[in-house]
Amino acid sequence: MRKLDLFTVIHNGMRAAGFRVAAILAATDFTQHGERASAAEEVIRFIDLLREHAQHEDLHVLPALLGIDPGLAHALAREHVELELRARDLQLRLSELERSPTTVSPSTDAPARAVRGALHRLLAGHLLHMDREETEASAALWTKLSDGELAALSQRIFESMPLERTVAWAQLALPTLPLAEQAGVRRALQQSLPADAWQLLVEGLSLTTGGVS
Ligand SMILES: [Fe+2]
Repeated sequence: MRKLDLFTVIHNGMRAAGFRVAAILAATDFTQHGERASAAEEVIRFIDLLREHAQHEDLHVLPALLGIDPGLAHALAREHVELELRARDLQLRLSELERSPTTVSPSTDAPARAVRGALHRLLAGHLLHMDREETEASAALWTKLSDGELAALSQRIFESMPLERTVAWAQLALPTLPLAEQAGVRRALQQSLPADAWQLLVEGLSLTTGGVS
């Protein structure tokens, strides 16, 4: 029987967010200050998302994995550090772009190319990392943890963040799923959240899911 998957739904949202930012950078006219500033905000928001997600895993998921497969837990923790270095490289390129004069060409000058390249390297590393978690880490967790224990772990992550972040993550991840699976995730959220929190989530979701409740 299929076990509770801690990674894939959230990772779907992160993949969607990452490719969206890559598309925004590709289409940005860096000679336009407004477009340049807006693209920079999108990049920073994506980096913040990656950091928040890595923190959830470092605090809640990797400690559980440590008792099951210590080698894998350490390897994934190291990958988090490597990805953080790529994120810092992206931030550095972004600040260089922000300091550079308005470019002659909308998209091909060096500072703009450097930002896009740094984002692509971060994304590429993150795609491989998430795949490893969805395959190797899930397989290891499933050998030792029951669905109840996996659900409790997921619950601890929810309880560790402010409700508005739960809403933001749900808004990010739910639209990436088939409608039938969205219903299941929504049911699970409804069961795990207090009634007032669930209501806030429904109101937030109605902005992006066509009012489904
Ligand atoms: Fe991770």
